[in-house]
Amino acid sequence: MKYSVWILLTALLASCAQPERQEFNLPDKVTFNEHVAPIIHQNCSPCHRPNGGAPFQMITYRDVAKRAKMIRDVTADRYMPPWPADPHYQSFVGERFLSDRQIALLAKWVKDGREEGDGTTPEPPEFPDGSMFGKPDLVVRFQDSILIKGNNLDKFMVIKAPFELSKDTFIRLIEFVPGNRELVHHMNGHLINYDYDRKSDVFEGNHVVTDVDGSTMETYQLLSIAHNDGTFPTLTPSVSNYLPGVLPAIYPEGIGNYKVNRKAAFLLKNMHYGPSPTDAYDRSYFNVFYSDGPPKRPTKEWLLGTLGISEVTPTLVVPPNEVMRVETNFTVPQDVSLLTINPHMHLIGRSFKAWAVTPTGDTIPLISIPKWDFRWQYFYTFRNMLKIPKGSVIHAEGVYDNSNGNPNNPFDPPKTVVEPVNRDMKTTDEMFQFIITYLPYQAGDENIRLEPDSSLFKH
Ligand code: HEC
Repeated sequence: MKYSVWILLTALLASCAQPERQEFNLPDKVTFNEHVAPIIHQNCSPCHRPNGGAPFQMITYRDVAKRAKMIRDVTADRYMPPWPADPHYQSFVGERFLSDRQIALLAKWVKDGREEGDGTTPEPPEFPDGSMFGKPDLVVRFQDSILIKGNNLDKFMVIKAPFELSKDTFIRLIEFVPGNRELVHHMNGHLINYDYDRKSDVFEGNHVVTDVDGSTMETYQLLSIAHNDGTFPTLTPSVSNYLPGVLPAIYPEGIGNYKVNRKAAFLLKNMHYGPSPTDAYDRSYFNVFYSDGPPKRPTKEWLLGTLGISEVTPTLVVPPNEVMRVETNFTVPQDVSLLTINPHMHLIGRSFKAWAVTPTGDTIPLISIPKWDFRWQYFYTFRNMLKIPKGSVIHAEGVYDNSNGNPNNPFDPPKTVVEPVNRDMKTTDEMFQFIITYLPYQAGDENIRLEPDSSLFKH
């Protein structure tokens, strides 16, 4: 609850510089039923509901009224809803942030005595527990339950979930369903396709390697990823990503569906479990929905930075009590359309920013995260495909804060934090990565909307 002290301070500061109420044209009487419920149901309930990932539910008048002051404070300083990207720099599908007026409405509701108001509370949206998309064609579960040790530490793991099909198939959508919703925090999943005759048993090897983030040779060996003859199967990156309250990426028909071979596995390279005071277990699963045929336009991925295609400069070694800035630059070899981006750092990251500069000198903003929070590693999908012309340079820069003023610093006193090369990655090591999902550009791409079509949902 370190945070509560912090919000108290910022709330005090905020009350000194309170914006003019009239500016927002607020109603004389703010009520739950008329004004507050719609804000909460849209922006908070997707996580603050039973099994939604957040610690308590916020659906009914009672739920919200009893935490009213805390809600006022966490919205005033924009701690909630969690959306680390600056919405004024670039806008993304499903972004969740409150307008200044909505924040002022919540504050006035608390000040005026949290009235429920006349009439009935608007219906909260429905949140089906298993799938958001109807009956899956295939369910792939973790081979076994994963033990999450009760030592109050964040944990990163690499997990393999193998499966076999009767024939090669195409996949339209993969939906990750967390088993233990309290502890599963984020997940980045890849698809492994084996050559049928070169892998006798897809289920052999460990199913989990603990305390690592991102795979290396050593983890691959423990998980027995290779074919019998030692060659590696093909890996389709980032087919499934999960964060509480976030829908899986669903691109328009024909884009980015995947071929899956008869022998295959999901490889969860970055599985993050939150801290637990007692031993706990998780057995999550994937709902898989088939598509009719091969993708017309398969997606591709660039991984910039740590273990990727572009160098991090200077080398990521952050001495104790220092703040350090690193960058990576990549020249785009052909006209491309960007779909989704994912900045990745660990605990002592402080900010992240990426943009492209075209050969004619125009700047295209990609993403700015002014206050990095390792707990909220979204995959950000652009509202429309974003064209980046050939020869543009993509710049990404990250700032790390290795002082003990950084509340997420895992070491007290601070220790030198390094970016390991080719060995298993610990949560307490650092990374600087920028993952980009793209397509080779086609005329008219910039007009293609990436917002999922609501008819996809079953209700
Ligand atoms: C994407 C999921 C998500 C959304 C959306 C979300 N929350 Fe949260 N919220 C969480 C999680 C997870 C926690 C617990 C971890 C933490 O405090 O960071 C939390 C914690 C909180 C807390 C407790 C903070 C503390 O210091 O203990 C409050 C209050 C809160 N949320 C209010 C809200 C409000 C109000 C909204 C909507 C305006 C909202 N949340 C939207 C996931 C979410």
